[in-house]
Amino acid sequence: MNQFDDQKCKKIQLDITEHINQCNDIKDLNLAKSHFVGKDGIITTILRQCMKDPDINGEDKKIVGKKINDLKDFFSNLYKEKINEMQNLAQSAEQVDFTIPVYSNIGKMHPLSLAKEQIHKIMQEMGFCHEKGPSIESEYYNFEALNIEKNHPARNEKDTFFVEENVLRTHTTSVQIRALESGKYKDNFRIYSIGDVYRRDDDSTHLPMFHQIEGFIVDDNASVSTLKGFLLDFLKKFFEKDDVEIQLRPGYFPFTEPSVEVDVKFDNGKWLEILGAGMIRKNILQKNGYKKGFAFGIGLERIAMIKFGISEIHDLVDNNLPWLKKYGSKGIAL
Ligand code: DAH
Repeated sequence: MNQFDDQKCKKIQLDITEHINQCNDIKDLNLAKSHFVGKDGIITTILRQCMKDPDINGEDKKIVGKKINDLKDFFSNLYKEKINEMQNLAQSAEQVDFTIPVYSNIGKMHPLSLAKEQIHKIMQEMGFCHEKGPSIESEYYNFEALNIEKNHPARNEKDTFFVEENVLRTHTTSVQIRALESGKYKDNFRIYSIGDVYRRDDDSTHLPMFHQIEGFIVDDNASVSTLKGFLLDFLKKFFEKDDVEIQLRPGYFPFTEPSVEVDVKFDNGKWLEILGAGMIRKNILQKNGYKKGFAFGIGLERIAMIKFGISEIHDLVDNNLPWLKKYGSKGIAL
């Protein structure tokens, strides 16, 4: 009889509580059921042993029987409670409306990112390969290899950020030299690069960090007229309209000859300069084993502002939420 005293009863109750608490589903609960009150379960076995034990007299057997029944009730109460709890949980999960659109309130793409994505797409459709270069560039790739001599005004500390013996690149034209020198490209090919550039300009119409698209085509048929044709095609695709008008004015860049500045005509009839371009200088091409090519450099901010009707360049970096909501692209889930 002292095999099954009150202490043992308490211990079994604790075991039952712990087991049931750990159940996650009906399967777990059924395992607990057979563990405690099944045919060979702990409680059933104790009852069977007590009833067979010749040392336990009839009166004591009744007491044990009562304790065992209490334990079975204890188990079945906890079992029922747990089942109820599981059913309630399942019901509340069913009340979640899975048809509510997930992306209803998600962020939009910044107009600069959008313009960049569109340009990647257009350039790749036009047969260009993308090349990257470092933002911290050597003076060789940023200046020397592009015929920008030591005494050129662009190379002084008023215009350029110096980083030890390097510079923050002032244009993406450095990538042109890197691609030409790489020897990766043979015969006729088209390369472009989009990236960050830096200049010591910070006023109402300039940002010290902005972005450029550099592109060039090495091709036996490259000429100023194929350059103009290409630029017109590109701008029509970017501005998504057919009636784009451009004009080429003579310009000067140390790495192209002839060089041109290109203006685009606005709806109000005014011309706005949007890019520089020209025939790549012979010394640059020949040094790398090439004959003919044209190149162009476009300011990403400028053409994005024209396309999206943005008048203040600083708005692009001010992180103003209402502005971002207005000018961000619609419906793009990030
Ligand atoms: N690198 C020039 C700039 O930053 C832009 C440019 C002009 C790039 C003419 C070119 C080019 O490739 O041919 O102002």
